Order: sequence, then C-alpha cells, then structure tokens
Amino acid sequence: MKLLVIGSGGREHALAWKLAQSPRVKKVFVAPGNGGTATEPRVENLALTDIDQLADFCVREDIHLTVVGPEAPLAAGVVDAFRARRLRIWGPTRAAAQLESSKAFAKAFMERNRIPTAQHRTFADAQQAHAYIDAHGAPLVVKADGLAAGKGVVVAQTVEQAHAAVRDMLESNVYGVQHGSDGARVVIEDFLDGEEASFIVLVDGRHVLPLASSQDHKRLRDGDQGPNTGGMGAYSPAPVVTPEVHARVMREIINPTVQAMAAEGHPFSGFLYAGLMIDAHGHARTLEFNCRLGDPETQPILMRLKSDLVEVLDAALDGELDRVELQWDRRTALAVVMAAPGYPEAPRLGDAIQIGVKPDDDLRVFHAGTRLDDGVLRSSGGRVLAVTALGDSVRMAQTRAYDGVRQIAFDGMQFRHDIGHRAIKR
Ligand code: AMP
Ligand code: GLY
Repeated sequence: MKLLVIGSGGREHALAWKLAQSPRVKKVFVAPGNGGTATEPRVENLALTDIDQLADFCVREDIHLTVVGPEAPLAAGVVDAFRARRLRIWGPTRAAAQLESSKAFAKAFMERNRIPTAQHRTFADAQQAHAYIDAHGAPLVVKADGLAAGKGVVVAQTVEQAHAAVRDMLESNVYGVQHGSDGARVVIEDFLDGEEASFIVLVDGRHVLPLASSQDHKRLRDGDQGPNTGGMGAYSPAPVVTPEVHARVMREIINPTVQAMAAEGHPFSGFLYAGLMIDAHGHARTLEFNCRLGDPETQPILMRLKSDLVEVLDAALDGELDRVELQWDRRTALAVVMAAPGYPEAPRLGDAIQIGVKPDDDLRVFHAGTRLDDGVLRSSGGRVLAVTALGDSVRMAQTRAYDGVRQIAFDGMQFRHDIGHRAIKR
C-alpha cells in the first residue's frame, strides 16, 4: 500500500520513517517533505501543499491513508475536505482542531467541563488587558489567541513584561499570529509552577490509546533559559509521569475531554496532545491542547514504538482503538535538536550541513528544516534536525545522542547541551 504524510518537519520525517517500516507499505509520500525524507528508503517527497490537489493525488495514486503532521492544515480543514471525498485521513476535523487553533476556545471548553487548567481571562481590548494586569500583578502568562508555532506565549515575571506582551500581541502583532475571524485576542492566565510533560494519546472519536510519555525543552538555552521555541529536545519516557500521575491525567483530563468533545458535537479523532504542568503533589493541569503529535517529542516516541503504526492507525480509523495494545522499547529515547543561527527570532537559512553519522537501530537523524539543493544538504528552517538515540538509561541515551551531534556541522548551529537534565537529576 501507499501512504501520504502531510508536513515537512522532524515529526513528519519520523512518521514517514516509522510508517515505511511496515511490511505492508510500498511507499510513503511526504508533502512537501524535507531533505531527510528525500533520501529515506521507501519515502518520496511530493511538491504539493494545496488541499484539493493533495486529495486529487490520493484518488489518483490510490493512497491507503493520509496522516497529517502539523496543525495548520488541520485548522484549514484538510480532514473535512478529505472525508467529504471518502478518503481515509488521520487527524481531527477543523471544528475539533479548535482545541489547539483557538486558545480562547480551549480555555472556555476546559472551564465549562471542569478540566484542570490555569485561571484565565480573554481580552480583545488592550486597555482592559492592561487594567487586568495592574489589578492582578505578576507573575502572569500572556498568550496570543491563534496559531503562533509555539512562540506567542510570554511568561511575564514582572508587570512591565506583561504590559509589553499585550502591546506586542494586541497592538502590533509582532509574532505574526494567524488570528481567528473575530480579530486579535489575548489570553492572560495565572502562572503555574511545576514540571512540564507532554501527554499524547490517539483518539478515534470514542476510545483513547495513550502513547508513551515524553518531555520537551521549550527554552532555547541550557538550564531552561532564553526565549521559548518550538522545542529544543525531548525524551521518552518522562519519569515525572508516574503511574499515579498517568492514571490521574487520564481520569481528570483526557477522558473528560474526549467525552465532552463528542457531547458538544465535534468528536475528536486524531492525536491529542495535552501539555501538562505537574506540581510537587502530582496534580496535573493542562497548559495547552494540541491536536497533533509534538515536535520534537514524536522523534523519541516513535524510536521506542515497536508496534506497526499502520496497523494502529487502521484500527483507529475504523473506531477500534480499544482492540489495540502498543508495544514499546523499554529503553529511553532522547532527541537533541540542532537549530539555525538566529533561531527563533530570525533564523539564517541556506547553510551547508555536513552529517558524519551513520544511522543504525539505536541512532537516527531526523531532518526538519533541510533541503537537498543540487545534491548539497542545506538548512531551510529554524530547527534543522534532531539527533535521536536509544539507551538503557536517560544518561546513556543522552551520551549516545550527543556523540551523534558531534558528527554534524553547519555554520552557527545552536543546540542545548543538557537535554534530559530533569530526568538525570532524579
Ligand atoms: P503553551 O504554548 O501554552 O504551551 O505555552 C508555552 C510555554 O509557556 C509552556 O510550555 C510553558 O513553559 C509556559 N507556560 C504556558 N502557560 C503557563 C502557565 N500558566 N504557567 C507557567 N508556564 C506557562
Ligand atoms: N514540542 C511542542 C509542540 O509540538 O507543540
């Protein structure tokens, strides 16, 4: 069978690589893909992004199923369009994808369904937002409502920083946020203390199948300093998600969300990602929902997944996730992201990349912002690639991944030296 993956990042490279392992698969197309998917065995790039053209391609090529990587095509209704043409596609409808595409929708949803999250207020009016900040005091978190590739969030330690964030988001849109139809809005919420984890599940509308836990590293620099990014590294499993925390998250967050989405008329199917803040007592609150896999969390998660992902997704698309049990490699997988100079604000692109790593079963380089240019691999995005390794402990996976990092070079490359630090201190 032939499959299609939509997207061009590290998550999509990992998805395409994993899907191509299935004995039933002849070819995985990736639209538009990157320099890594261009050379992956049984994977082929497809220079298409238009939804109707992608659907035409699936009909013409008899594509068995399509997996959507990023949020933008989901928010644009790719699943609705494919379903209308009776094409098998894995991901939520546009209405269900609002859990990610509108923070205001997500917050109101959590509030009315009593799903634990930070207290918040939503503002369209800048003056009211400024008055709220003055009345409330810092620390506060200011979030742009709309898709901002993980960058439209300011954790303000001072009232001045919170005011500046409101000006940036409501008055000048410096983050280039894609606003919903009712214009610019900000969500201002209470600062939550604790440790973050990514809790990702598959949902087939009714049944839930959790993936292995993971933890991202959102800040650019070592020691969780510097600006927020799309994610500078990840590992799986995350020890902070103990069996007790897992059970509590399923009971208090995931199951109520899936039930309420169905009850409110937009049943969720696809990958559902709860970004959690877990406090010292093991209480988890939802920082955000995403309607897709995480990037870079997908890279370590899929390195550990032993089950055939095509069979899993087929069962999911048939509404039979309750029959699936996932098999995991018990080891830890850890991914170190290598980013372009200037990332996240203004990444410089076009640098030649040398990769001296030979991939094997325990080490892979998943490409993100790369392209093949006359046979030369060049950077084409802020996050360039992620070196992902398996090891018997977090420290061994870390050592292995950084051995790989040392064999990769491009001008001005940035990466963190401490991916996994929270799991190693324990
Ligand atoms: P988000 O895109 O909403 O997940 O926010 C990006 C990052 O900002 C999160 O991964 C957290 O590190 C931080 N953050 C967001 N909301 C809060 C909050 N209420 N309290 C503390 N940190 C937060
Ligand atoms: N790594 C964070 C995200 O995918 O949203």
